[in-house]
Amino acid sequence: MASFGKGIPDQIKRLSVVVILVLAAFFIGRMLLIPRDFGRYDHFRASALFDVASQEVEFAGQDICTECHDDISSQKANGYHQGLSCETCHGPAAKHTESPDEVTPFKPSGREYCPICHAYLASRPTGFPMIIVESHNPMKACTVCHNPHDPKPPQIPRGCEACHAEIARTKAVSHHVYIPCTRCHQTPEEHKVNPRTYRPDKPKTREFCGACHAEGSTEAPEAIKIDISTHGGRYVCWQCHYPHLPEAR
Ligand code: HEC
Ligand code: HEC
Ligand code: HEC
Ligand code: HEC
Ligand code: HEC
Ligand code: HEC
Ligand code: HEC
Ligand code: HEC
Repeated sequence: MASFGKGIPDQIKRLSVVVILVLAAFFIGRMLLIPRDFGRYDHFRASALFDVASQEVEFAGQDICTECHDDISSQKANGYHQGLSCETCHGPAAKHTESPDEVTPFKPSGREYCPICHAYLASRPTGFPMIIVESHNPMKACTVCHNPHDPKPPQIPRGCEACHAEIARTKAVSHHVYIPCTRCHQTPEEHKVNPRTYRPDKPKTREFCGACHAEGSTEAPEAIKIDISTHGGRYVCWQCHYPHLPEAR
């Protein structure tokens, strides 16, 4: 024993004891903690398959709802909520499909529910219909004005700002305040009803802005003129100027 490890520095010996203890703890822990049938099929517990299979079915799926609620299903199929399944809002309803008179599904009639998807959140996609819950017709249930199975604005909004409020507010404090949205976006009337199906156009060329800003242009005499053949190189103008707030300085 005396000669064993002779010449190995003390700190290495102490370190090896630590390493051995850690390894031992790891392997013993593994034996004690990992269930026996782990890894039989793959990286999971084999008996988990039976556990999951023995759970009660809670969701019935959308197709079966149509059998008894075809009016609502067809309403939904053509509306904005076509992508949502019935049970997204009504919760698991398998029991209801078995005994419809005894078990009725949850009805999310309160004001708290719809804002889960529609409350204003900067991270939602541009244009996604969002409201500021506190100021959007407060105190009334959403379903007073919007049919949950075919939601749309109760009347066709007249102004672009009903749905593009942020852009409208931005433009209102910019040099472009007096240019109507429709000068730059030809907008089909249907856009206000089916905005994703009927799209307005957007300016595509440098010359579009040049109509007012190119030297020699006459449309807006008060607009500052630039040499369109050199200014900004070959990039389109809105790579450098946000068109709804185009301040240069
Ligand atoms: C076998 C026919 C049948 C099927 C299938 C069925 N329902 Fe119903 N559902 C009914 C009947 C009948 C009522 C009315 C019960 C009542 O008013 O007491 C009802 C009522 C409802 C209600 C209203 C409950 C209330 O409190 O007013 C909701 C919500 C509902 N069903 C959702 C669903 C959903 C979601 C599905 C699909 C997962 C579905 N139903 C499938 C027959 C069915
Ligand atoms: C966006 C959420 C949402 C989706 C999706 C949805 N519902 Fe509803 N549903 C509601 C709300 C909210 C009510 C309660 C309406 C009220 O209080 O006036 C309701 C009410 C009902 C009722 C009661 C009758 C009535 O018109 O008030 C039935 C039946 C029903 N839903 C079935 C369905 C079926 C079937 C589907 C799928 C085709 C579905 N719902 C999809 C939110 C939803
Ligand atoms: C699970 C998410 C979800 C829930 C919950 C939900 N919605 Fe929607 N809603 C959507 C989606 C997705 C659209 C379609 C957006 C699009 O394609 O423009 C939409 C569209 C709408 C629109 C049309 C807006 C427009 O551009 O004119 C209204 C109004 C609306 N929902 C109201 C409601 C109401 C009221 C409720 C509650 C009963 C509700 N939503 C619950 C996801 C949801
Ligand atoms: C008193 C009627 C009324 C009530 C209650 C109401 N809304 Fe609206 N909603 C409207 C009108 C009107 C519009 C059209 C746009 C506008 O004028 O603001 C609209 C527009 C919307 C839009 C489309 C906004 C966009 O930018 O495309 C959504 C989403 C919406 N409402 C959801 C809701 C939700 C969720 C609730 C409940 C928390 C609710 N609404 C309650 C009347 C109502
Ligand atoms: C009922 C609500 C609503 C009204 C009113 C509305 N829009 Fe829109 N607009 C939308 C939605 C929703 C989109 C789709 C955004 C997306 O797909 O990300 C959109 C997209 C656009 C786009 C982008 C198109 C594209 O292909 O990128 C422009 C430009 C636009 N709207 C201009 C206008 C103008 C101008 C008006 C007024 C004349 C107006 N909108 C009125 C809801 C509306
Ligand atoms: C001076 C011309 C001009 C005016 C006025 C203008 N836009 Fe735009 N808008 C543009 C250009 C250019 C783009 C394309 C920007 C891009 O492709 O990056 C655009 C893009 C958009 C988009 C697409 C989403 C985005 O932010 O890129 C929407 C929505 C939109 N405009 C709505 C409006 C609305 C609503 C108004 C009125 C309040 C308006 N625009 C006024 C030039 C204009
Ligand atoms: C219909 C005519 C018109 C069109 C089209 C137009 N503008 Fe303007 N623009 C103006 C006017 C008017 C002003 C404001 C001049 C002022 O207030 O001194 C302005 C101001 C500006 C300014 C601010 C200059 C400064 O003093 O800081 C910039 C940058 C600008 N526009 C860029 C653009 C871009 C980019 C486009 C194309 C997407 C565009 N404009 C399309 C008329 C137009
Ligand atoms: C590569 C970036 C870039 C591009 C592309 C660009 N600009 Fe500019 N623009 C600027 C900068 C930076 C300024 C401010 C400095 C200056 O006056 O040169 C400016 C200034 C302006 C001014 C104000 C000029 C003044 O004397 O105050 C107008 C108007 C303008 N741009 C319009 C446009 C138009 C229209 C287009 C498209 C044809 C365009 N810009 C493309 C970067 C760009």
